[in-house]
Amino acid sequence: MKERLDKILTGTGISSRSEVKRLIKAGRITVNGRAALSPEMKIDREGSEVRFDGELLNTSRYRYFMMNKPSGVLSVTEDRKQSTVLDLLSERDGNLGLFPVGRLDKDTEGLLLLTNDGDFSHRVISPASGISKVYYAEVDGIPDEEDVKAFANGLILGDGTECLPAGLEVLDGSRCLVTVFEGKYHQVKRMLASRGKPVKALKRLSIGGLCMPEDLEIGNYIELSADELCKLFNGN
Ligand code: URA
Repeated sequence: MKERLDKILTGTGISSRSEVKRLIKAGRITVNGRAALSPEMKIDREGSEVRFDGELLNTSRYRYFMMNKPSGVLSVTEDRKQSTVLDLLSERDGNLGLFPVGRLDKDTEGLLLLTNDGDFSHRVISPASGISKVYYAEVDGIPDEEDVKAFANGLILGDGTECLPAGLEVLDGSRCLVTVFEGKYHQVKRMLASRGKPVKALKRLSIGGLCMPEDLEIGNYIELSADELCKLFNGN
């Protein structure tokens, strides 16, 4: 399907629609090696090579990113007082209409996906997809075999909330890994608290087969390749 060049360019985040028109008029945009002639020009976004001042643009409709979320920022798209994960994006990526896939608590660190693809987000979050999420937790107290069994059987929290069976692996002392297949409100904290092991620190390490790279520094993010997206769904 062919679409208007100015619409496609606006979707790359380089600038607003009116500014994009100016860029085209100034000859700074090329399509398949030739200067674009007008904003109304229609092109096939998949098969065309679009450049801005020589830089190849990603014209995909949907974009997928992985962030190493720091503690202290909200995983929402806007907040009047507090900083959000969108504040950590570059100006251009901030124009892509990204939103976080699910939530991490303000004080939780680690792997957070960002996208502009609502269907993808739904698929990742839905318990029906059975996608695992692995968290590293430091707790007060020392989790034991009884806790491991209780997690495996599916916990019932104090307010009656029923949790799906989950994994608990004790690493040493008060450090453990928790694997869940759903994303209820404060789930991991509430599960561990219900066993008398309140969480002191929490970090998400992976979603499905997608692990956070060790060299992705806190507060930084990368765009995901098609292969990495496949890992997410296939590597449970
Ligand atoms: N479970 C929690 O309790 N908090 C998070 O941020 C994520 C999972």
